[in-house]
Amino acid sequence: MTSPLAPDAQVIDRLRDALTAASFTVDAVFAVLGPDAHAALGRNETVPARRATASGDPLATLVRLFQLGDPVARVAADRALPGLVDELAAAEILTASGDEVRALVDIRPYGDEQHDWWVVCDLTPGLDAGPVHVDGTHVLGISEASSSLARLTVRPPVASALDLGTGCGVQALHLADHASRVVATDVNPRALAMARLTGALNGVAIDVRDGSLYEPVAGERFDLIATNPPFVVSPPDGERLVYRETGFAGDDVVRRIVAGARGHLTPGGWCQVLGAWIHPADGSWQDRLAAWIEPTGLDAWVVQREEVDLAAYAEMWLADAGHRGRPGYTERYDAWLSWFASEGIGAMGFGWISLRNAERSTPAVRIESFEGPVAGPVGPDALAWAAAVDAGQVQAGERDVLDVRWQVADDLVQHAWGPVGAADPAVVTIRLQEGLRRERQVDTVEAGLLSVCDGDLTAGQALDALAVLLETDGDDLRDRYRDTVAEMAAEGFLTVTTRS
Ligand SMILES: C[S@@+](CC[C@H](N)C(=O)[O-])C[C@H]1O[C@@H](n2cnc3c(N)ncnc32)[C@H](O)[C@@H]1O
Repeated sequence: MTSPLAPDAQVIDRLRDALTAASFTVDAVFAVLGPDAHAALGRNETVPARRATASGDPLATLVRLFQLGDPVARVAADRALPGLVDELAAAEILTASGDEVRALVDIRPYGDEQHDWWVVCDLTPGLDAGPVHVDGTHVLGISEASSSLARLTVRPPVASALDLGTGCGVQALHLADHASRVVATDVNPRALAMARLTGALNGVAIDVRDGSLYEPVAGERFDLIATNPPFVVSPPDGERLVYRETGFAGDDVVRRIVAGARGHLTPGGWCQVLGAWIHPADGSWQDRLAAWIEPTGLDAWVVQREEVDLAAYAEMWLADAGHRGRPGYTERYDAWLSWFASEGIGAMGFGWISLRNAERSTPAVRIESFEGPVAGPVGPDALAWAAAVDAGQVQAGERDVLDVRWQVADDLVQHAWGPVGAADPAVVTIRLQEGLRRERQVDTVEAGLLSVCDGDLTAGQALDALAVLLETDGDDLRDRYRDTVAEMAAEGFLTVTTRS
């Protein structure tokens, strides 16, 4: 007998064939919908997409069935999924009644430059401004958080990777592209089944395991751990949506993941966490995170992407759970704020924690806020930071950063500003074009240094040459610019790697 969400292997093969035959891909769906209907669907509005999918051809039918959650005529469903409707209904992927077929789950085209994948998740709730109904076992599709973690993850080829809290399996798909072995864990049986189906449908081997945090991988180590855990900090009021709340107090899920990382990383391994953390009303969030990280002995790069005030935070997550507009909304809102106050919470932070098992006696820890927009993958920024730390022991100060043959990042550009007609610019700024797209203002010496850092000269030699040019003392210049070189290396302006 077919179990829920677990059709036979041959049904999965035929489903893959049908989705492929219909060109059910990100690009083809975009082409059918057009940019406006596609953008509207991104805002959970289905009307433009419904108008664009009236043809009844297999691709249009699949979009209506899975992405709009619409009922489709049996004859259209049979054309899109030949001979599969009853078998998919037996696996609780579809439901068929009379002449009508509906999807019970979403099968969503997903991909990157190299891949066309499908991800199996629950149907999007609250389309067309309808009421949001999510039950406790809801399996989220690809969220902004999923994409943010996928961009952050470092992607050199590795032997093993762990996707902790896999949900629909999206991170596992990405990891399988550069890891020989991928383990994916979850506590939600529905997520486990969906992640298995996502893997099977894409022909990607994922070892899916049941259990909380590191329990299913006790005694195992990985080269890479990528996790987007349920990090919502909410009052323990009995209501728990497993995709966003663990039941651990406050932000303890993130602390536990950080604390456990060292025991599950191979030498040189990375653990990258998307998370939220409490800003204590009477303390520093940086000190709090540093206290989580310090006992691990791991290198760490923490980037807070956003600080959210408590009212906005409560509103966001109450709306996410569908409470907005329902009876009891204001009472719940009030209860959230009372709980925050009773816990001494001042605000919430959200961002990235990248831990690296560099096995260093004095770990390098960098904790910063960076709220600016990012462009493309951020994994290369993490790798560049790690390489800079290795090259110059930038933070530990074990080696003089002036002895390193830095080169200017290959995506760095310079802007010079000043009055029209002036011989020299008044202000020079440099800006990285990719990843975090950092920017900083530089003085004459820094601009000169950057112009000669091509990997041949050490930073010290470059400063000596500039000292001669500027008729100033070389030792003095070295002393004055040592910290600046370290900072420019830690921020990726000076590097020992290339992005590609
Ligand atoms: C925010 S979703 C992330 C899903 C997916 N990895 C992504 O990036 O979109 C968090 C997932 O963690 C799972 N989860 C909840 N509690 C957990 C726990 N204690 N241990 C492991 N996973 C857990 C949830 O069921 C959910 O699938």
